[in-house]
Amino acid sequence: MNGQDRRISRRAWLAGAGAALAWSASPARALLAIVGERPLPASVESLLSRMTLAEKAGQLNLLAAAWAGGAAISLNPAGAASSFDAQLRMVRRGELTGVFNGNGAEMARRMQTEAVRRSRLKIPLLFAADVIHGLRTVFPVPLAEAASFDPDLARRTARAAAVEASASGIDWTFAPMVDIARDARWGRGVEGSGEDVLLGRLMAAARVEGFQGSGLSAPDAVAACAKHFVAYGAGEAGLDYNSVDVSERTLRDIYFPPFQAAFAAGAPTVMASFNDLSGIPATGNQWLLDTVLRKEWGFGGLVVSDYTGDEELIAHGFAKDGRDAARLAFLAGVDMSMQSGLYLKHLPDLVEKGEVPLARLDQAVRRVLALKVALGLFDDPFRRIDPAREKARLRTPEALALAREAGTRSIVMLRNEDNLLPLPRSGKKIVLIGPFAGGGHDLIGPWNVYGTDREAVDLVTAVRETLPDATLDDGSDPARAVAAAGAADIVVLAIGETQNMSGEAQSRTEITVPAEQQALAEAIAATGKPYVVLLRTGRALALSGAVAKAPALLVTWFLGSQDGPAIADILFGMASPSARLPVSFPRASGQVPYYYAHRNTGRPNPPGALQPYKAHFRGYPNSALFPFGHGLTYGDMAYSDLRLSSQTLGDAPLTIRATIANNGRMTATEVVQLYIHDVVASVTQPVRVLKAFTRVTLAPGARQDVTFTLTRADLSFIGRELTPTTEPGAFQLWVAPSAEVEGLGGTFTLT
Ligand code: BGC
Repeated sequence: MNGQDRRISRRAWLAGAGAALAWSASPARALLAIVGERPLPASVESLLSRMTLAEKAGQLNLLAAAWAGGAAISLNPAGAASSFDAQLRMVRRGELTGVFNGNGAEMARRMQTEAVRRSRLKIPLLFAADVIHGLRTVFPVPLAEAASFDPDLARRTARAAAVEASASGIDWTFAPMVDIARDARWGRGVEGSGEDVLLGRLMAAARVEGFQGSGLSAPDAVAACAKHFVAYGAGEAGLDYNSVDVSERTLRDIYFPPFQAAFAAGAPTVMASFNDLSGIPATGNQWLLDTVLRKEWGFGGLVVSDYTGDEELIAHGFAKDGRDAARLAFLAGVDMSMQSGLYLKHLPDLVEKGEVPLARLDQAVRRVLALKVALGLFDDPFRRIDPAREKARLRTPEALALAREAGTRSIVMLRNEDNLLPLPRSGKKIVLIGPFAGGGHDLIGPWNVYGTDREAVDLVTAVRETLPDATLDDGSDPARAVAAAGAADIVVLAIGETQNMSGEAQSRTEITVPAEQQALAEAIAATGKPYVVLLRTGRALALSGAVAKAPALLVTWFLGSQDGPAIADILFGMASPSARLPVSFPRASGQVPYYYAHRNTGRPNPPGALQPYKAHFRGYPNSALFPFGHGLTYGDMAYSDLRLSSQTLGDAPLTIRATIANNGRMTATEVVQLYIHDVVASVTQPVRVLKAFTRVTLAPGARQDVTFTLTRADLSFIGRELTPTTEPGAFQLWVAPSAEVEGLGGTFTLT
């Protein structure tokens, strides 16, 4: 925007609501207004008294941006077509609270100018977007980043994403996605942090902190939105959008905690999920959105529907028409409607006819206004809108370097026989084979609104920085690929899922490597050449044959802008792999949902061969091929000397120490994990639960003690009364490199 425009529009707006300025100057104060439902600043409160019912409903109406042909719409099911001019008219009439997935600062400037200059009440718009793992600088998909077991990395990438997004006019991100995902058929596990509650909580909090930076009003902060509330990942059969029927205990033990962590970290908004919960859709679920969220947890922020989630109450068979759907969602506690337009259309009439209390409407509008206040929009509606700043902040060298670092820290090494990796940087003929070895596609992952594969670096480009004469074969003709392998010393085989095989509405019935690529791997294996499999995937896969047995096997996910360079850094040993699986890789598709923290049956199979009448599948043990937490390094790590400060845990915490030594020849980072098992409890407990982890970096020959602390609170579970409970008794513990290896085992008693 030019200076002139900016002055005029700001002044026009300031005339209307200037007194909010001082009040919102303190970010802490602003946040409190949201999380604690403090009164609004008087000037904003007075707006409320001047608003018509239609204008109030307008504050609750969020639409996909129509700018530039409505690219935003193409990311979701087709909805009512709108044009940018039509949206500007809506803004003028006060019918729109904001738009999402728009196209940058210029669009935001035009819309915001319209709002603060030409609408009656000059209430600033809110610009939202799905900034899931980066804007134009794309970081690894969240599942990959969770593999880093490094919440601080997630905080840093979320911060960098917020810096870019906020420079592009974005105030609010629909992230983090904090759904625990235990069924690998579901395509959306790629957006979250995997199967584990502790990892999920830590990543949720870190991402919220990263997005929101020093406070919501900061011009480089974006408000976080924890989604999808709740248990969206537990859809039956892993089918997206499907019914969920889990117990309240499971909600409280497994699915709620990452949301609670996000709120504790300051997330001021939450998105209701598409699914039903035991017959009551989350979007119309008063118990969930009011009894639990508001009354029990004291959440004072904003609840937004998912995309047409309110309207979908009709298809669920819960509402009879659009009016009924708006009423049910709104009364259940959904404050803002995304994309259906139903609130705008029906709320005024519902209030006039007495079917929705005016107080409920005012409450929802207050929450929206409070968010806008907290974001500093009443202070300066253009604080995140500046095309020049936008240009300067996109894809900076620092952000791209962070993407590369995050990429290397997200790659999980599952196997490395005879130290095939790292590859020599000279002297060997290396051929890259497979659909993902080059071609510049499938790099950024399934859910990125603003990044493009075109702006990302693929494997062959990066490998040729080190080995200029590395050859490439896309694997489309197996005979040719086999010949290329035969002429090389080492094969790097890049296979797996394309990026459109995971993400929304991409549930799979079989979680296997696509058949042609499996066949390619078998053909390459048959050449007898040493081969490294690079596995592109957005979910856990059930690996078999030449892929499962590859001499070296790396899970490379979708790493974003610096995908190729990050993989090359690991391949050639510029960095040692340090990531761990955030999801168990089962032995077969039929095992899913498979997760390490399962309960025991009454007939567990003892260690060793499969026994009759024990819990296992025909021919398959009830365990993972590559368990949660598994991941190798270029070091050779040894665990020893488990020491407990006491045999009992009472009011004083228990300290657990172990020594980790690197007996290898390369510096490496080990993720040391602490698991427990509550042996006997009034509600049966999982065979293992992760309680802590830490990263230790060790030079060759170095050793270091790691220390963990357990308190009584760490041992609590959701008891018979559905509240957190601890029960005295025996516990097992393990300090181990993954969830299903013995590591160092011990016991203690909770007194
Ligand atoms: C997804 C949400 C997303 C929204 C807006 C929906 O289809 O479920 O995660 O934030 O679209 O793009």
